[in-house]
Amino acid sequence: MNELIIVGAGGLGREVLQYALDTFSSNSTIRIKGFLDDNVSELSNFHDKLAYEIIGNTDSYKVQEKDRFLLAVGNPNTRKMLVEKLEQRGAEFISLVHPKAYVSPSAKLGKGVIISPFATIATHSVLSDHVVLGFYAHVGHDAVIGSYGVLSPYAAVNGGTVLEELGFLGTHAVVTPNRKVGRDAQIAAGAIVYSDVPANRLALGNPAKFGPKLSALSSKSD
Ligand SMILES: CC(C)(COP(=O)(O)OP(=O)(O)OC[C@H]1O[C@@H](n2cnc3c(N)ncnc32)[C@H](O)[C@@H]1OP(=O)(O)O)[C@@H](O)C(=O)NCCC(=O)NCCS
Repeated sequence: MNELIIVGAGGLGREVLQYALDTFSSNSTIRIKGFLDDNVSELSNFHDKLAYEIIGNTDSYKVQEKDRFLLAVGNPNTRKMLVEKLEQRGAEFISLVHPKAYVSPSAKLGKGVIISPFATIATHSVLSDHVVLGFYAHVGHDAVIGSYGVLSPYAAVNGGTVLEELGFLGTHAVVTPNRKVGRDAQIAAGAIVYSDVPANRLALGNPAKFGPKLSALSSKSD
């Protein structure tokens, strides 16, 4: 039996724990082992006692043959760093598609993706490796989401749009059809993007204007 480890024990980690319970509980080939987090007391301020604990940190945890990993960290650059660090030590990331998500049969999903409840993935879209979609996030037909991309709850990438590697959409952000969002760009919560977005920029407001990235997402890992 394989053993599931959730990387990140913050809010997203606890959400992913519940998705894993919803998705794998009747599947006898995997059981949940616990969390990895570099802050060993991450769960101690949380008011409920969880049935699962932090079993190590991402620098020193010794990967076991039967371990399988889910990445539950919300900052795309931190996601990339953690995947590279853990894969070097033999970690194998798996995907989780919540049973209440809709995934078109013609969509292509890479490895290590997490698809939350009520997310929708339309026809012939592509999700690259280690993409995460939050509650009700939407990927339109023929859209492409690059590696480590994060769509927060209710964010939408419309049909034909390409979000390059490390893209981030805050909650209720929208990118209109057939746009190109450059590498490592951030679309702020509630922003509506009607044009291409340059790489490494923050898009803010409606209609979105582009500027330098602000602090929150550069430092925050969840
Ligand atoms: C854009 C963002 C990254 C900025 O965060 P920050 O660096 O902490 O910036 P601050 O909150 O200090 O705000 C700086 C200024 O930008 C404005 N601002 C912040 N976020 C904004 C947004 N989404 N839309 C419009 N204006 C915004 C603030 O009002 C403030 O304006 P002021 O200087 O005139 O007072 C952040 O607000 C955001 O949208 N994050 C996405 C969060 C999200 O959806 N997470 C999903 C987790 S489930």
